Amino acid sequence: MKKVDFPIDKREWHPGLIPGPVVLISTCNSKGEPNIAPKSWLQMVSFEPPILMFSGTKDNVTERNIVENEDFGVNFVNSSMAPRVYGCIQWSGQERIEKTGFTLVKATKIRAPLVDECNAHLECRLHSTAEVGSGFIIYGEIVVASILEAILQVGYEERYKLLDQIVFLENAMFSRICNVEQIEQIAAAY
Ligand SMILES: Cc1cc2nc3c(=O)[nH]c(=O)nc-3n(C[C@H](O)[C@H](O)[C@H](O)COP(=O)(O)O)c2cc1C
Repeated sequence: MKKVDFPIDKREWHPGLIPGPVVLISTCNSKGEPNIAPKSWLQMVSFEPPILMFSGTKDNVTERNIVENEDFGVNFVNSSMAPRVYGCIQWSGQERIEKTGFTLVKATKIRAPLVDECNAHLECRLHSTAEVGSGFIIYGEIVVASILEAILQVGYEERYKLLDQIVFLENAMFSRICNVEQIEQIAAAY
């Protein structure tokens, strides 16, 4: 199979090689003012305790709020929300919340809101931060998880369709996770 050179700069990848789940990170500053921002460099890092990470940008509102307030929500974006989520970064702060029209609701445990239109949420507490190259990594311990009740009322494969998660491919491009296949022989292994 013939292979050719490909850029090492992710911004020049067409096709994108590392798709990431599109989420809205919801936060509050110390005055209680809410913020939401899309992220897709999100990854689990530990089963016990349950810790995830996302790579952000040091002086952005999201990262400042998390360092200040220590709590954040991870809200999983579905395909119907995609255009509003991709377009929302032209605004910031309260204007972004108003223009997108998303509904912010109280979380169970954290001092940050959740985005009601999302089908699943993780409530997280800041574990630590790290600076890696141009990235500012937020590690968060998951303290509460919640999901739309209807999703748990259907079979495992069907749940992905209802969750309707999307992944970031490249600028203005996303993909829906709906083509779920089960590998019968090893289904019990993981
Ligand atoms: C779909 C999508 C995914 C994004 N993923 C990330 C990401 O993983 N990390 C990041 O630092 N910025 C990411 N961004 C850019 C931030 O959302 C953007 O810089 C935003 O203005 C930050 O807002 P804030 O200052 O309110 O936190 C993404 C933008 C979009 C539209």
